[in-house]
Amino acid sequence: MLHRPPRADLRRLATFAAVGVPLQAVIGGISVLTGLNPWIVSTHFLVTLLMVTLARRAGAPVEVHMPPAVRALAAICLITTWLVLVLGTFVTRAGPHAGDPDSGRNGFDEVALSQLHTDAVCVLFGATVALAVVARVTETTRTVRRLSTVVLVTEFAQGAIGFTQYFTGLPWGLVIVHMALAAVLTVEVTILFDHSRQRRSCRLLTAE
Ligand code: HEM
Repeated sequence: MLHRPPRADLRRLATFAAVGVPLQAVIGGISVLTGLNPWIVSTHFLVTLLMVTLARRAGAPVEVHMPPAVRALAAICLITTWLVLVLGTFVTRAGPHAGDPDSGRNGFDEVALSQLHTDAVCVLFGATVALAVVARVTETTRTVRRLSTVVLVTEFAQGAIGFTQYFTGLPWGLVIVHMALAAVLTVEVTILFDHSRQRRSCRLLTAE
């Protein structure tokens, strides 16, 4: 190659995509060959979300200052989101939407897993509320303040859909929306995390 792009992070992310897409083709093929094995199907979905997360980091801003509490809370939100996502796939793989009836289930108790999934959502919601508050009483950016609100709204909508589908026998239409919103939330939380990596002096806001 004659021209090497100066952005090493872009090169790294392009490599992730180049590896990730064929890898997904392989995982998709294995999931079919194993009769939609619940573990393989979950991996297929989670690798997709991981690629979304990694792809977004291409636009990560650099070198501005940000309060440590905002950085910490945004990191907690990202980690907890992934915990919620993984537990969500466990719930699905225990229930009726894990594939054909003879494709097997993961063998866990669906109700207990749903409870655990919801517990993790509560932690995520709490961390996001804390982030939205801290972002407003310390010197952050308008983007971080707005993003924390957007993430909160998405979590609220996703929680409402989650409870509705749980109590109405998992209608497929709602399940699809739940999966789509999970991807949207992944993107939003990743963008929020990226912005929290900016560095900004940590002074309490006296006026704005
Ligand atoms: C931020 C909030 C939430 C996120 C990001 C989230 C994400 C997910 C994900 C990724 C899945 C797996 C989809 C799949 O593997 O096909 C899932 C499944 C599920 N979630 Fe959530 N969820 C959230 C909140 C909730 C809440 C509050 C409930 C209430 C009980 C809930 C109930 C369920 C159920 C019952 C399933 C299994 C659906 C099925 O069997 O098809 N979720 N969730």
